Amino acid sequence: MSKDSLFIRTLRGERVERTPIWIMRQAGRYLPEYRAIRATTDFLGLCKTPELAAEVTIQPVDIIGVDAAILFSDILVIPEAMGMHLELIESRGPVFPDPIRSAADIDKLSTDLLERLQYVFDAIRLTKERLDGRVPLLGFSGAPWTLMCYMVEGKGSKNFDTVKSFCYQAPASAHRLLDMLADCVIEYLNAKIENGCDAVQIFDTWAGVLSPSDLDEFVLPYVTKICDALKTNGAPVIYFPKGIHDTSKLAFLNCNALGIDWTKDIAKAKAEAGGKVVQGNLDPCVLFASKDKIRSDVERIFAAVGTGGGHVFNLGHGILPTTPVENARFLVECVKDLSSVSADRAQIA
Ligand code: CP3
Repeated sequence: MSKDSLFIRTLRGERVERTPIWIMRQAGRYLPEYRAIRATTDFLGLCKTPELAAEVTIQPVDIIGVDAAILFSDILVIPEAMGMHLELIESRGPVFPDPIRSAADIDKLSTDLLERLQYVFDAIRLTKERLDGRVPLLGFSGAPWTLMCYMVEGKGSKNFDTVKSFCYQAPASAHRLLDMLADCVIEYLNAKIENGCDAVQIFDTWAGVLSPSDLDEFVLPYVTKICDALKTNGAPVIYFPKGIHDTSKLAFLNCNALGIDWTKDIAKAKAEAGGKVVQGNLDPCVLFASKDKIRSDVERIFAAVGTGGGHVFNLGHGILPTTPVENARFLVECVKDLSSVSADRAQIA
């Protein structure tokens, strides 16, 4: 069953027969089957219709053969449930037309989330039923800092000047919002686990835009609070802070695994990670390269971290919409073949 699956055993730090793989943003636009369903509804409609969310969640399991499903949703459903109007504008990405800019804006936010996010929990139950134990289901949330970036900037950003100005000019308000978000994330992830998610991942996509001292002030205390408060009931927790240079800063976190982007040396990151499992590391653009290059990068990562446990294969960030499906499928096959073959060799040796 899911709790004894390869993915979950690997996250628990057990020795395993081969390396598991899933792909960030694996349910998405590179799949024609996703685009076909997406053509019938807008993005939020897809997230909010459990039947459709379950269907696109399972697509990559059937089509490319990954070892875990990740519940189809978005990190921005939390600010939306807090009362912020969210628009997903094609080719512009997500937009909050009325961003948070003052203490008064924070006062207007609701923290009464669970009822408004019931559609997520319904989608989890339906997906678990349909998966029928084939692979485990991963749930996720944005981290407080990354959520605040979107809530204050109002959209994606190049320099993050608006959210950083908010932190520097109104630190008490910034900390109040971050703390409020940490409480929301705890409640949300606990509910995801209660409703059936086998593991959870916290996405901190914009952790890497801060200086090390600002990371200590605006990111780590809130992620620490979340990791310490989760009622995991045995569900492993993965933290993915994209772009952080010094992984040793995260060694003390109360989580099972750390996501590692492709700019880092994964062997060095693993050595710094304080015994945690590492996840990721392949540059998403390698999926635009030849099969030889894809295979040799998989071999390079296995040479760096080994294959008998301690690593979940993934990209260093989300798969890009123009990725050829055939290459995604080839990557999954490569990881399965090369990690089981090396495991056999290791046993013979
Ligand atoms: O991994 C999965 O398969 C689950 C699905 C998932 C989505 N968003 C679906 C999505 C996950 C895990 C996310 C997380 C997310 N959302 C993050 C953190 C991870 C990361 O990639 O950094 C962030 C920063 C967001 C915010 C967000 N949502 C952006 C920036 C965008 C626009 C960019 C884009 O890819 O279009 C979205 C929209 C979004 N979320 C889409 C998907 C499939 C595209 C919407 C569409 O179908 O038109």
